[in-house]
Amino acid sequence: MKLDVFTLFPEHFEWFIAQRHVRNVLEAGSELRLIDYRETTPLSAGQVDDTPYGGGAGMVMRVDVVDAALEAAYGSERDGVRIVALTPGGRLFDERLAAELAAEPHLALLSGRYEGLDERVVEHLAEDAVSIGRYVLSGGELPAMVISDAVLRKLPGALGDERSAVEESFSEALEGAPEYPQYTRPVEYRGWGVPDVLASGDHAKVREWRLERSRERARSEQS
Ligand code: ADE
Repeated sequence: MKLDVFTLFPEHFEWFIAQRHVRNVLEAGSELRLIDYRETTPLSAGQVDDTPYGGGAGMVMRVDVVDAALEAAYGSERDGVRIVALTPGGRLFDERLAAELAAEPHLALLSGRYEGLDERVVEHLAEDAVSIGRYVLSGGELPAMVISDAVLRKLPGALGDERSAVEESFSEALEGAPEYPQYTRPVEYRGWGVPDVLASGDHAKVREWRLERSRERARSEQS
């Protein structure tokens, strides 16, 4: 997969790209590019934003600046690229959307800063607007990292043990439900034990117990 993150702060991603699972995916052939809007802005003095029409506080990322960055990266033919704008009001990001994006050969995440992106970015340049939650962050960098993390860990080579991603929270193997509780040694700590069935060695019973706990968690989330 090719993953391009458009940002005003590429240096914010240094920590992220140093993570083991991210390095694994990149070594396995995927690509992650950090593209700085300022490098291609058509405005003078590195300007990328402007005051909002209609008034109000803060600055808005300009549509011509975002378009220039996309043009420099892809030209005007952007058919093969799934371009996603990051905005607090967009489609809520979840495991299903992570899987959908992980299946894309080429994904671009557009982060905004200040008061966000000019709406014409969402309407005309991006295919979707995605939100990581109904709260406002100071920019799209953290959302871009959240989405990149959830997407990249689904790609081959990300995790030491490929099975970890198959049966985890919200996976098909768990019928979309949260993961069952996990335990490790010691078998007893301060009087808090591990459910007997897990140490029983009866794989069918363990499976049944786990699925039931997972369904239980799904039910309690709904209520
Ligand atoms: N930019 C600012 N806040 C955001 C959020 N919650 N999700 C996506 N992008 C954002």
